[in-house]
Amino acid sequence: MRSIVCNQFAPLSELVLEEKPSPELFPGSVRIAVTACGVNFVDALFVQGKYQIKPPTPFVPGMEVVGRITEIAPDVTDVQIGTRVFANVGLGGFSSEAVVSAKRIMKLPETLSDGQAATFMQSYLTAWFALVERAHVERDKHLLVLGAGSGVGLGAVDVGRALGLRVIAAASTEEKRNLALERGAFAVIDSTLSADEVKEEAKRLSGSGIDYLYDPVGGDLGETCLRALTDDGQYLVIGFVAGIPKLPANQVLLRNRRVTGVDWGGWAGKNPGLNDRMLTQVMELIAAGELRPVEPQTYPLEQAAQALQDLEDRKVAGKIALIP
Ligand SMILES: NC(=O)c1ccc[n+]([C@@H]2O[C@H](COP(=O)([O-])OP(=O)(O)OC[C@H]3O[C@@H](n4cnc5c(N)ncnc54)[C@H](OP(=O)(O)O)[C@@H]3O)[C@@H](O)[C@H]2O)c1
Repeated sequence: MRSIVCNQFAPLSELVLEEKPSPELFPGSVRIAVTACGVNFVDALFVQGKYQIKPPTPFVPGMEVVGRITEIAPDVTDVQIGTRVFANVGLGGFSSEAVVSAKRIMKLPETLSDGQAATFMQSYLTAWFALVERAHVERDKHLLVLGAGSGVGLGAVDVGRALGLRVIAAASTEEKRNLALERGAFAVIDSTLSADEVKEEAKRLSGSGIDYLYDPVGGDLGETCLRALTDDGQYLVIGFVAGIPKLPANQVLLRNRRVTGVDWGGWAGKNPGLNDRMLTQVMELIAAGELRPVEPQTYPLEQAAQALQDLEDRKVAGKIALIP
């Protein structure tokens, strides 16, 4: 099998494609011939040793895979060869094969392409966890999403719209803003404006101020947009692609604002049953057409480093899937 291997924490260009023997099945497992693997910003952080969790090296990055079952351990009785499935593998996804516990696979609705199925989980579960479990959002309120043209931001636009929120999406290019509009944002802001201008535009578009701020970007933009929150408004801390913002405590005190941490991965690790239930719920909404994950751009597996670099360089509108 072919895999993208991180031999030590290093620049993305040092990722290597290796040919390895296929792993053995273990009791309760199935083998999947991977047809698509989702790429996330966090994979780039893992590879460079910049994430708070550092996997032992060498490792194969990649969390979300889709493929067809090609082999089944003798003790597994309820799955069939050839079934198209999704699996959350944690690590190891950037490979042409995956051996996973049969308990971790999900059959896929026909309405979802391999690429969509391989790229929705992290973005949509983070958004669902943030908006439903952490923020307890109420319909018709205003949600401002930063980094809204890709990854977790675009997922939050779609989930927010499905939850009945009025979504304002900030993104840097017309292509990204159009994706957010297609997912149901009622207004967009060009995030290449100054942080202050983005904040003022968000206030103007909402009329009364922002109720929820979904921030995977951080840096100066996140810090400034906190000031667009209305009374009791919530700032949802999602990520720091532009740096960790230094939130001014006086601005949190004013208007009784709230700052809410969102660590979906940490929560999912401690609550696997609840996370599985959330995944099933989100998958059902996708199958019903109420959530609409974007069709990703695709790169061949051997271009994993380039795919991660393009994400870091903000070149990707939507999502990326690697095709082994
Ligand atoms: N809290 C959680 O549970 C959780 C879960 C998943 C991911 N995350 C985090 O969320 C963040 C985003 O992940 P993702 O997979 O959505 O990434 P992504 O697909 O690359 O999207 C990030 C977006 O941020 C924007 N951005 C603004 N300034 C940037 C900068 N200096 N560098 C790079 N991008 C910049 C870009 O949009 P524009 O070009 O339009 O500005 C880009 O499209 C990461 O920090 C990740 O670790 C957190």
